[in-house]
Amino acid sequence: MRAVAPYVPGEQPAAGRRVIKLNTNENPYPPSPRVLEALRDAADGAVRLYPDPEARALRHRASEVYGVPADHIMAGNGSDELLALLLRATVDPGDRVAFPVPTYSLYETLVAVQGGEAVQVNFPDDWSVPRSLASAGARVTFLCNPNSPSGTLAPLDVVEALAHEVRGLVVVDEAYVDFADGDAMSLVGRLHNVVVLRTFSKSFSLAGLRAGLAFGHPELLAGLRTVKDSYNLNRLTQLAAEAALSDLPHMLTNVSRIRTTRARLTASLRELGYRVPASHANFVLARRSGVDQAPVAAALAERGVLVRHFPTARLQDALRITVGTDEETDVLVGHLRALVAS
Ligand SMILES: Cc1ncc(COP(=O)(O)O)c(C=O)c1O
Repeated sequence: MRAVAPYVPGEQPAAGRRVIKLNTNENPYPPSPRVLEALRDAADGAVRLYPDPEARALRHRASEVYGVPADHIMAGNGSDELLALLLRATVDPGDRVAFPVPTYSLYETLVAVQGGEAVQVNFPDDWSVPRSLASAGARVTFLCNPNSPSGTLAPLDVVEALAHEVRGLVVVDEAYVDFADGDAMSLVGRLHNVVVLRTFSKSFSLAGLRAGLAFGHPELLAGLRTVKDSYNLNRLTQLAAEAALSDLPHMLTNVSRIRTTRARLTASLRELGYRVPASHANFVLARRSGVDQAPVAAALAERGVLVRHFPTARLQDALRITVGTDEETDVLVGHLRALVAS
């Protein structure tokens, strides 16, 4: 197996210290009160029982919400688990797995774990889907859409064209899609080689509970079931995710607040001289061409504001900043203004 750098999702704040955490794209607002009520109601002696291995109630609720048959839906312990299962079920040592980069760093790690060959195709400067992605001869092609860390979105016709062109599976990772306009869910069932992944960690504010959904052809999902832990999703998480789907207005209100703050943050960063592509996610990528941003990230951390810096050639001069509350954004921008001026 090839060695890869360990996957580091970002530092956790030290206990007791007030930090503004804008480094792992969590939601700054709490989940629906219905989620908390469901958790309280379920915290009883029934936890002695195993959970439903098929997460049927959750999948049926998801089927109603997304208009996809329940047999085309599988629940996972976060979408990270679903990504791992997809590769475990489809990739043998030496098989190619393609994805445009820079993107979600876990893809490379998971491909290495599986003994596959990662074919990393550079995004052009405008972050459009590279033409050569489709000709990589890959068994699996990942498309993170909206992409992290750029926040940019490939339109549906481009995703569909990619799915038609490749012979293998196309996994559209839509972790951030609720913050965007447009998604690829309509391809599920219509194109048998498309899998769409969603998470409850971002728009639904449930990162700590670990729930994600895969939408794809039942035959493919049957393959994933053969390699998953039976009880991959605990009882409380299944109920919480179902409750979250039963209160879409709460999620949509939070998304709308975050989109408004995102516009303000983007404008402030541009005023400070950063180049910021229009984001369709709950974070922005702020670049100061040719100026290493590692010291800026370190100085912000000293002031209690965590943002993400990637020490790679392509992203050295950029910061990925989660959209927090308006107040958190003001603190961040205030510190950045002082740092940029100094
Ligand atoms: C693109 C992308 N996909 C998947 C995930 C993982 O989501 P989950 O919390 O559902 O495992 C993340 C988390 O940051 C992400 O950025």
